[in-house]
Amino acid sequence: MSTPTIEDAAPQGGNPHSAGLDAAESGKVELVTITVRIRRFNPEEHPDAVWVDYQLTVDPKIRVLDAINTIKWEQDGTLTYRRSCAHGVCGSDAMRINGKNRLACKTLIKDVNPEKPITIEPIKGLTVLKDLVVDMDPFFQAYRDVMPFLITTGNEPTRERIQSEEDVQRFEDTTKCILCAACTTSCPVFWNDGQYFGPAAIVNAHRFIFDSRDEGAEQRLEILNDREGVWRCRTTFNCTDACPRGIEVTKAIQEVKRALVTRRF
Ligand code: SF4
Ligand code: FES
Repeated sequence: MSTPTIEDAAPQGGNPHSAGLDAAESGKVELVTITVRIRRFNPEEHPDAVWVDYQLTVDPKIRVLDAINTIKWEQDGTLTYRRSCAHGVCGSDAMRINGKNRLACKTLIKDVNPEKPITIEPIKGLTVLKDLVVDMDPFFQAYRDVMPFLITTGNEPTRERIQSEEDVQRFEDTTKCILCAACTTSCPVFWNDGQYFGPAAIVNAHRFIFDSRDEGAEQRLEILNDREGVWRCRTTFNCTDACPRGIEVTKAIQEVKRALVTRRF
């Protein structure tokens, strides 16, 4: 049997997103048939999660999110997951794809070994509410706890707060965080102890601790000096590997630890 192509498989008046067929603008694209194996959980139906396989014929250059959307729109509308921007900006579609935390909208099918079943499951360490949706409240509580906003004293300045290029470079990397939780939920310490602040909260504390305009560093450092704070980090680098924004998460955590010891920031 010959390999199907976009032209062979194009739907007649069907969903325009069908199997990512809109990915091809012209010419023939070689399609692949893939198995997407999703960990489904619906506490209203069954207390245990089960793996369910879905078969799709797709352009291997579509994203994993496109494949999941196709399953939801064409095969099973009950499939539940979060997504919004579809462009790696909102951070809502972090999930474990083939055992690794990734953003579904930034992961191409061709890059996740499509010859074998592609496994998709919720990020670990947070309570699963349904299918791929986890309870993000503990994650955002830790974020709020480090006071992720500018703290200043005295009168408001009448002109902008000037910073040098060097000042900005000290915290620029951690400004890129999109709060996707891929780092925190790839951390073995967090898996074992959900009370740990986790890498993402520390990254967002770092963003303000090292900002020369901010005056709340001492408060944040004291918060992270807690027994569930920065000292729980075991430097496994899982967080750095997981970050879809390429933030040097482990380095940021190390800098916060050093600031706690030296009180220099
Ligand atoms: S540091 Fe990276 S992995 Fe962690 S929440 Fe921010 S963007 Fe996501
Ligand atoms: S849907 Fe927004 S980051 Fe993937």
